[in-house]
Amino acid sequence: MKYPALISTLLWIILSLDAMAITNKNPVCMAADTGLKYRLGFPVGAAIKIRPLLNNNRYRAILIREFNSITAENAMKFKALHPSATIFNWSDADQLVDFAVKHQLRIHGHALNWPKNNPKWVMEFQGDSVAWEQLLQKHIQTVVSHFKGKVSSWDVVNEAFNDNGTLRKTIWLQKLGPDYLARCFVYAHEADPAALLFYNDYGQEYNGKKMKAILKWLGGLQREHIPIHGLGFQLHTSLRIPIPELQKSIQAVVRTGLLLHLSELDVSVRSKKGEPLLTAAASATQQAAIYRQIFTIYQTVPARQRFGITLWGIGDQDSYRNAKDADADAPLLFDHNYQPKPAYKAVQTSGQ
Ligand code: G3I
Repeated sequence: MKYPALISTLLWIILSLDAMAITNKNPVCMAADTGLKYRLGFPVGAAIKIRPLLNNNRYRAILIREFNSITAENAMKFKALHPSATIFNWSDADQLVDFAVKHQLRIHGHALNWPKNNPKWVMEFQGDSVAWEQLLQKHIQTVVSHFKGKVSSWDVVNEAFNDNGTLRKTIWLQKLGPDYLARCFVYAHEADPAALLFYNDYGQEYNGKKMKAILKWLGGLQREHIPIHGLGFQLHTSLRIPIPELQKSIQAVVRTGLLLHLSELDVSVRSKKGEPLLTAAASATQQAAIYRQIFTIYQTVPARQRFGITLWGIGDQDSYRNAKDADADAPLLFDHNYQPKPAYKAVQTSGQ
């Protein structure tokens, strides 16, 4: 082969290789770029269950493609991690954390103290207030230390308030008095000073009384320099969500300067008792509109206060509200076959 011919052949090979590299990269780029995590200006999370994470390829693929944050739906709760006084069971939570670390997903821990999730041994525990305090401190600090550096934030206390704004009469309140709440945050902070710490609850999103009580309590913590960084609105909601009330509550949190996490979002399409069932198409359209409104409103929160929005599951079949009757809740962004619903598109284009 003559010199110029050799050069042009080499050039052709180089250009072809380059072109192949581009065409090989492009489909991946395009697919990845369509994920919600690239579309919205804040972290988008999902509550994750260990079984589908290990056994279901479609579930895993959606998680990696769409989300950049996870919450352990059950694996980090007291009952799951600490089933008896002397046993900590890390296996499920560790697998979840390993997966998240490998795929660069933020991990939000849920929940260190949730009165509804006390294991039997705690409910039967006998001891004076010192022993109860040690139990509380040991649980929180063992768990937070175990995940230190991997779990970057925690729901420290979950659902401690009643709808009327009083504190729930939980075993912790009975044994330790109302200040146990603040101490939960102090214990978590001692175990991992870098972790962001949240109070998480439901109903205050549109219940002025409950919201007022939580804000008053939070204000007290802030004045006493108790390490608390954010508030979680669970937002298990429905087509009947009172949007103006939600807006008011969101603005109230904005004024505190705290982070706001819409922490367990799902929108049930179930009709109210006695009301006629909506057609599948009508409920899907209404659900999409509600999802769009919620995501759009969240974008009015200053960026520095947006911790993110977490969906409470991926596909409708994973939802804890997964009823199989004709009037199903179908509350999530993906259907039973993991196909995106109109709600998905609405979220993807929200705020545009
Ligand atoms: O893992 C056990 C299994 O070993 C056992 O055979 C089976 C028999 O019932 O139960 C399994 O545990 C279930 C667990 O989910 C794990 O799947 C419990 O029964 C079931 O009650 C539990 O439900 C969870 C619920 O919290 C109570 O912890 C839901 O999945 C979860 O979505 C729900 O999440 C809560 C948030 O943490 C706090 N906010 C409200 C939200 C909805 O209730």
